Amino acid sequence: MKTAIIFTSKHGTTAKVTQMIAARLTGNQVSVINLKKDKIPDINLFDGIILGTSIYAGTSSKTMQRFCKENIEALKRKRPALFVCGMELDETKQQQELSNAYPQELYEYAVAGCFAGGEFQFEKMNFFERAIIKRIAKTDKSVSQIKKDGIDRLVTEYEKGKVME
Ligand SMILES: Cc1cc2nc3c(=O)[nH]c(=O)nc-3n(C[C@H](O)[C@H](O)[C@H](O)COP(=O)(O)O)c2cc1C
Repeated sequence: MKTAIIFTSKHGTTAKVTQMIAARLTGNQVSVINLKKDKIPDINLFDGIILGTSIYAGTSSKTMQRFCKENIEALKRKRPALFVCGMELDETKQQQELSNAYPQELYEYAVAGCFAGGEFQFEKMNFFERAIIKRIAKTDKSVSQIKKDGIDRLVTEYEKGKVME
């Protein structure tokens, strides 16, 4: 079973979550693809696709948005699993961030979705990011809030819903 996890990440958290998902996909031949760095293989070569992006100011990465738009038909056929990384605490807003991160058309075809939590890594933020987070989160301490249970659920649902080819 061939799975591609295709992601974008600014400070490395979505990359970390991608690796956690890859490690849980036992019995799969997993390709991890960084949308901003790696060559994009033909989507049709995979049995299933998992997409991940982080959220900044409520929105997903432009690179991920463009990739989804350009490959929408192929991605729909792979019954994708979708996740986002973010530090939003309100559960309703977390779900909104997830559903807004990907094209509605793709979201409707998803077999699994997850708000995977995130991290504030102050040492990796630039001056403006640090100032924004200090003001909003009222902290200047790095913190990790990755939701391992959500990741487990995503993998279970993905494996149940995956197309067998
Ligand atoms: C300037 C800034 C704005 C952010 N805005 C949001 C946001 O609107 N919603 C959210 O859930 N998380 C927000 N976050 C948290 C990031 O999504 C979180 O740090 C995530 O783990 C980053 O993942 P990455 O390192 O893969 O890019 C923000 C973080 C920064 C630094």
